[in-house]
Amino acid sequence: MASEQSGQSRPLERMEDLVSLCARRGYLFGSSEIYGGINGFWDYGPLGVELKNNLKAAWWQRVVRARPDIEGIDSAIIAHPRTWEASGHVEHFSDPMVDCRTCNRRFRADQTDLPCPEAPKQREVSECELTDPRNFNLMLSTHVGASEEAGSVAYLRPETCQPIFNDFKRVREVARQKLPFGIAQIGKAFRNEINPRNFTFRSREFEQAEMEFFCHPSEREKWFDHWLEERTRFHADLGLDADRLRTRPHAPDELAHYCQNARDVEFHFPFGWQEIEGIHDRGDWDLSRHSEFSGKDLGVTDPDTKEHFVPMVIETSVGVDRTCLALLVNGYREEALEAGETRTVMRLHPALAPLKAAILPLSKKLAEPAQALATELRAQLNVFYDDAGNIGRRYRRQDEAGTPFCITYDFDSENDSKVTVRERDSMAQERIALDAVLDYVKRKTEFPG
Ligand code: GAP
Repeated sequence: MASEQSGQSRPLERMEDLVSLCARRGYLFGSSEIYGGINGFWDYGPLGVELKNNLKAAWWQRVVRARPDIEGIDSAIIAHPRTWEASGHVEHFSDPMVDCRTCNRRFRADQTDLPCPEAPKQREVSECELTDPRNFNLMLSTHVGASEEAGSVAYLRPETCQPIFNDFKRVREVARQKLPFGIAQIGKAFRNEINPRNFTFRSREFEQAEMEFFCHPSEREKWFDHWLEERTRFHADLGLDADRLRTRPHAPDELAHYCQNARDVEFHFPFGWQEIEGIHDRGDWDLSRHSEFSGKDLGVTDPDTKEHFVPMVIETSVGVDRTCLALLVNGYREEALEAGETRTVMRLHPALAPLKAAILPLSKKLAEPAQALATELRAQLNVFYDDAGNIGRRYRRQDEAGTPFCITYDFDSENDSKVTVRERDSMAQERIALDAVLDYVKRKTEFPG
């Protein structure tokens, strides 16, 4: 089978190229496109949902299942409204906004150096007739029950961690956990972002994977360092390039008022260094506030010393969608091939790739045995079968989809019971016995423990 040779390789420079690949291949596209879309909301297609599920499974395995000291939960999206009073979101979770008196549009008060949408060539928003800044709460609200009175207002959670604090006492008891231990969950969060932008980077509906680790006040620094190291290792294991990853401590004026220490894990996107995860020392703020607002004591008593105290919290909070976006940006490459051809390849970690292998018979005449191989693999792996078009074009489609292995069933396979396995990044080919293919692909697509 003809081998391929690659030359120069270019990373992603323009987000538009990724947006277009994602729509073309079914990773991600605007929500409700048939109605013109809705700003800040995105749908994951057949490949995107697999990538996202693989990422969530890797996180859950690493953070929850592999550790005896972490418990998982899946809480309701809507919590008792007092939750958000206790957390400070009702009072403080807002951005200062200004309204334009001419066009009635609303802008963030700190982002008025943009062209005015009414007259973009003539003036900036700051030169329009603007109202004084007013605070605009970013929580999305709804009504629970039949009445729409003020008393029935509830909020879609703006972060997944607060229900963890609500459930702290119950989970500690049912799981018979002693400090230090943590509670984790993955789920949707909603923020009425004024300016959703950069594809899914800032959305109005997104997923978070959060873990709250409860410890004695004397151990908070030790656990902060532990979680910072764990989470940095996780991002490296995802295959994000070392020169695109860094951690950045928050400056004192960036720290939330209850936060003693915070570090962001940042990724270098085409639009600059941006946060994908935060590791925060939240102190005893959350449990103390929920104790105060609920009237329930959320403190713990040390069984040996009988000391009663409110545990300190070290939080790790990663955006699932932002990490997916970082993986797609990181994986995207345009490569020059021989004879002036180019290929776009999505170099995702094989454990995260939506499809693990594509089964490609060299000719439609070989469809039957190739289908049989696809059926065998499909019982344990997400695989794709394709017998349409020339083999080069089929490889290109799989390169864009990020499929780590293309398995070609050819006329020799009929005699030697072997197939050609082509590796996505190197495009190297090797012959593998048909009955060894399943184990081969499984072994090569595992996530490190
Ligand atoms: N509980 C702490 C917390 O929610 P955050 O820094 O506001 O902290 C944590 O959010 C992570 O959630 C961020 O690092 C980011 O990955 C993700 N995130 C926050 N707002 C987002 C948005 N509008 N769109 C997509 N992801 C978002």
